Amino acid sequence: MQSLLNQKIVLGISGGIAAYKSAELARLLIQEGASVQVVMTEAAQQFVTPVTMQALTGNPVYTSQWDRTIANNMAHIELSRSADAILIAPASADLMAKLSLGLADDLLTTLCLARDCPLLLAPAMNKQMWDHDATQRSVQRLIEDGVALLGPASGFQACGEVGLGRMLEPTEITEQLVAFFQKKLLAGKRVLITAGPTFEAIDPVRGITNRSSGKMGFAIARAAIEAGAQVHLVAGPCDLNTPLEATGKITRTNVVSAKEMHAATLKSADCDIFFAVAAVADWGIAKPAKDKIKRQGQKAPTLEFIANPDILLDVVKTVKTENGKSRPYCVGFAAESTDLATHAQEKRQRKGIPLIVGNIGPDTFGSDLNQLLIIDERGRKKLARANKLDLARQLIQLVAKKI
Ligand code: C5P
Repeated sequence: MQSLLNQKIVLGISGGIAAYKSAELARLLIQEGASVQVVMTEAAQQFVTPVTMQALTGNPVYTSQWDRTIANNMAHIELSRSADAILIAPASADLMAKLSLGLADDLLTTLCLARDCPLLLAPAMNKQMWDHDATQRSVQRLIEDGVALLGPASGFQACGEVGLGRMLEPTEITEQLVAFFQKKLLAGKRVLITAGPTFEAIDPVRGITNRSSGKMGFAIARAAIEAGAQVHLVAGPCDLNTPLEATGKITRTNVVSAKEMHAATLKSADCDIFFAVAAVADWGIAKPAKDKIKRQGQKAPTLEFIANPDILLDVVKTVKTENGKSRPYCVGFAAESTDLATHAQEKRQRKGIPLIVGNIGPDTFGSDLNQLLIIDERGRKKLARANKLDLARQLIQLVAKKI
């Protein structure tokens, strides 16, 4: 499902070299289902042309408050009244200073002052300009006025310097805008998630792992942040970017083995909700070889296994609150090759957890799609086949109701 379906976004572009990324940003917003109306300052037009933005959005681009094509000549009122949000990317130091003072000397600043919808800014400037007291005063005032700041990021800048002030990438801005529109069902909650596979070393180059991609756990992390939670993600070896990293609402610990995942999880288990999504190896190798095991003719080595700790069970058993109750609301996952409902129910009871989520079907590993079976004390419910992010959002809604 598109996450910005039917949302009307006014995309403001001010004068900065990052404006070249606004074209890509407009495309991404449209891909998510938004209708995009671009407003450019005069300086922005030095970096990208209105023709580019018009071609990409399919809408006329506004550049002046003196636009005679609008019947009552009130473009600033018209545009801001019909918008669900105004997103300005890039937001220059000059523009932010003006907005923080309530100045309105061109179309973009005027429609910001005349708005009754949220305003989000993606700052982009040289690091000295960002660090300057004047800019920081603007930032402070804008935050006090309820304006949302997306970024800036740190890194290489067009001027050749390295530091804070880079505009977030268009994908990050889009994801943050999407998050902005989600209901804050978990505001103030701390969520812990294990995700991905574990890797049990046999020797320094070989090991045993499984087909978990981490996608479901990472989708739950994203959905939890979107819902307003602070997330800690304990991830096994998987090649996925930390979701919504630039929001500062997520921390991540990378682990390899089940034992490491156990230690990292238990360390962070003082939380409100725990999603045990990781496919944790049930057994590790008793004595991994220090050096690579050499081939000895046709003779195969014998591997001795030992049971790994059960992370979920230990969170349920050991983490207590002051009043003696188990602290986090624990959600387990089950992937089975036969009889999912029976095995999942048995797991739910054995682990003493209120909710277990079964992955239905053989094709969930690595896929962007999934189909879930939710089992709680009241019975079972299917979540129809959908994108893992959509399912994660549904799951978050369900859990939010329960806590
Ligand atoms: O039956 P199993 O113990 O594999 O149950 C799966 C659930 O338990 C999943 O939520 C998984 O993340 C969790 N688990 C765990 N530690 C283990 C094994 C499984 O947390 N060692």
